[in-house]
Amino acid sequence: MADPLHNEFPPGSLEARDLEHVFHPTTNLKLHQQVGPMVHARAQGVYLWDGNGKQYLEGMAGLWCTALGYGEEELVRVAEQQMRKLCYSQLFAGKTNEPSVLLAEKLKAMVPMPADKVFFGLSGSDANDTQVKLLWYYNNAMGRPEKKKIISRLRGYHGVTVAAGSLTGLPAFHKHFDLPIQGVLHTGCPHYYRGAQGAESEIEFVDRLVAELEDLISREGGDTIAAFIAEPVMGAGGVIVPPAGYFPKVQAVLDRHDILFIDDEVICGFGRTGRPFGAQTFDIKPTTMSLAKAISSAYLPISAVMVPEFMYETVAELSGEVGTFGHGFTYSGHPVCAAVALRNIELMEERDIFTHAGLVGEKLQERLAVLADHPLVGEVRGVGLIAAVELVQNKDTRSPFPAEQSVGAQVAARCEEHGLILRALGDSIAICPPLIITADQVDELVNKLETALNEVLSTIR
Ligand SMILES: Cc1ncc(COP(=O)(O)O)c(C=O)c1O
Repeated sequence: MADPLHNEFPPGSLEARDLEHVFHPTTNLKLHQQVGPMVHARAQGVYLWDGNGKQYLEGMAGLWCTALGYGEEELVRVAEQQMRKLCYSQLFAGKTNEPSVLLAEKLKAMVPMPADKVFFGLSGSDANDTQVKLLWYYNNAMGRPEKKKIISRLRGYHGVTVAAGSLTGLPAFHKHFDLPIQGVLHTGCPHYYRGAQGAESEIEFVDRLVAELEDLISREGGDTIAAFIAEPVMGAGGVIVPPAGYFPKVQAVLDRHDILFIDDEVICGFGRTGRPFGAQTFDIKPTTMSLAKAISSAYLPISAVMVPEFMYETVAELSGEVGTFGHGFTYSGHPVCAAVALRNIELMEERDIFTHAGLVGEKLQERLAVLADHPLVGEVRGVGLIAAVELVQNKDTRSPFPAEQSVGAQVAARCEEHGLILRALGDSIAICPPLIITADQVDELVNKLETALNEVLSTIR
């Protein structure tokens, strides 16, 4: 029951009813009972309005996903048309539908890897669970049942379902959930600012991480490890941009041990880093890819796993013996989701959104770079239209604020007061606006963030 002592929402209000009935995902449930919800009432372009009619610049694109912004009539039209024509169909047992076929063709043509088949799901988590199951099935088919482990990275985020949640390298997603499952290994996070030892250069830091990875593989045995999974830029782990040369060096080690590369493009895919895919920005050669979020700009839920021919052929052969490939979702290849995703990607191309994201992204990074001089800011990092500003107590020693001071949350709250939605990931303030944001709106975003930083600085002092 809502705690009437700690919130003052009128009985019968949406807020009060939320507190009474809704179980919120990824929320401090205890705190939520005290502070209550923020109602999202409507949204258009890069702006969102709350239940009281207050306007916010949506600086996080929802959960890193509303790439084309809100209220895109063309996507509404396509969804409506498809619902009237064929509101549901399935891909089980060889059934198909036109939007799924067209979307699969489109995705294959655009990804930077030789994809042969596309497996559809509904979320980034299920895409990564599919990746894990596909690898296990594949290695069983290959007659090497011991080659099953997956290496992920500390602070990586790959979702919350049992396998994907295990791949995630953040303590809150494991603690008390009895995760990770066996066979998931976590290696170091490529965050130079926090991870460098002594006077280590960026190159030395990368070489040490790569040596640690090599050690891990030697200890476990390369013949027990199926794959390595990584986001090009870590999102929920704090927007960690890897140092130059990190991925090619990691891939050289993986290749030596016949370890495949799962490229989790759930955030980076479709223009976020200023190129169509993060793999292109960071010189990654993916074996497979997980796509979601911006694939449909979040108008409807859909995910895709891009599968190379050698995996598909091997898996198909074994499924013939078993009698079916026993994995799939009721809504795999949902025609309305697929039609909307396809039109979303076409609109991105017609409007040259990836180029736009690259150009406006440069402006965002330039404006944010100036904040590095702010007394509260330890590091500004980012690429394209994704960034973070990390707050520190002492710029020289890089020492963080005590967690209980919640300085990051204070800055995010001040931003909200000024009509800007950003997200505090600990004391890193994440920024990830819709890709359609204009140069003027970037100014609005950074000006409001700077105001919030100044206000929190004065209260701390
Ligand atoms: C990189 C990455 N992978 C996977 C996921 C999980 O996606 P979903 O929340 O749709 O399950 C996320 C979600 O934020 C993500 O950022």
